[in-house]
Amino acid sequence: MLHPGSVHPDSPLLNRCPPTLPREAYRDPAWYAAEVEHVWKKSWVYVGRRAEFPAGTIRPIELAGQRLILVHDDAGQIRAFHNTCRHRGAELCASESALRGGRITCPYHQWTYDAQGRLISTAFGTPTSEFRKEEHGLFPVHLQDWRGFLFVCLSDTPPDFTQAPIPELSKLANWPLERLVSAHRREWDMACNWKIFWENFNECLHCPGVHPNLSKRVPAFARGINAPNEAVDWTPDTPPVPSLNDGACTWTVNGKSCGPEFPDLTEAERAEGAGFLTFYPTCYITAHVDFLRVGTLKPLGRERTLLTIDWLVAPETLAASDFDLANLVDFVAEVVDEDAMACEMNQRGLVSDRYRAGTLMPQEFDIAYFHAWLRARLPEGLEMSK
Ligand code: FES
Ligand SMILES: [Fe+2]
Repeated sequence: MLHPGSVHPDSPLLNRCPPTLPREAYRDPAWYAAEVEHVWKKSWVYVGRRAEFPAGTIRPIELAGQRLILVHDDAGQIRAFHNTCRHRGAELCASESALRGGRITCPYHQWTYDAQGRLISTAFGTPTSEFRKEEHGLFPVHLQDWRGFLFVCLSDTPPDFTQAPIPELSKLANWPLERLVSAHRREWDMACNWKIFWENFNECLHCPGVHPNLSKRVPAFARGINAPNEAVDWTPDTPPVPSLNDGACTWTVNGKSCGPEFPDLTEAERAEGAGFLTFYPTCYITAHVDFLRVGTLKPLGRERTLLTIDWLVAPETLAASDFDLANLVDFVAEVVDEDAMACEMNQRGLVSDRYRAGTLMPQEFDIAYFHAWLRARLPEGLEMSK
């Protein structure tokens, strides 16, 4: 039993056991609709990397039920617009294609826009004199390029990208994010609500039971905690222990780096084993000494979520003749398989008529933070609607 006040004042552990979200949060259409409107349409959402989006290209994407296009012009500028023509609303772009002559042409009646979304031509339609082309440009969408990671926000008044809930953007300052290339991508189509993923991501109480191999690699995980300062008996004087076991320096199958380690990392960053940066609700980046993982979430419904993991490495790592893709991918892929199974198991159990809400343990402080972040965005009374 943990008595409030018995942990060190700098401990991140909760001093209480708060309730979880109610089960409706994971199944109810009203909750899901509210989240689409108030969370996914109002947050910065990760849509891909500049390095994987060549200049002179238009790419259709879908976000929160809205169809958008990303446009990368020949001058290197990337913009986002709603994928709808101002003439009669046709879809402008159905699949990734070239930006011919720097123009976007609607396939229906050939209205043409420049890369800034300005209407250039109404083609065979001959407007009367009161028609003003400047009033018929494409609908723009806010776009942010953060170190080559592209985010869009559907809101007319997006939150400041550099503010909470996106913490510590400088945390990855020593990783060469902009120049990394994709070594591998894999998708997990999970039968769970998107919040189940983040809750599982935010605690390590499940690690000893769910991740046997990962827990052998990471000593803290074997104790059900993310880091030594989460131990109930932790004090600032607790001697540090290696972050990874058996001389491993990274999360590959053999524990060895998949290529040269990133040269600008500090000794502390190398010793840490992995650095995490979370962008609610859309993605996280895990930084290792030799590669980066980007996990992207896309809700496909109330009880279905697509998780995409990208493994990013330096170009010279990928080009090396001895590069071993299986060694890079398989360790993490096993962990994600295990997490996906855990998430689906959690979702199935929530169907019970007897389950109303659960209880967080003090070690689940990051889940409590996630719930507070979510509740701050949802309309009042949603939890009372049942
Ligand atoms: S709907 Fe696009 S040109 Fe007519
Ligand atoms: Fe996990």
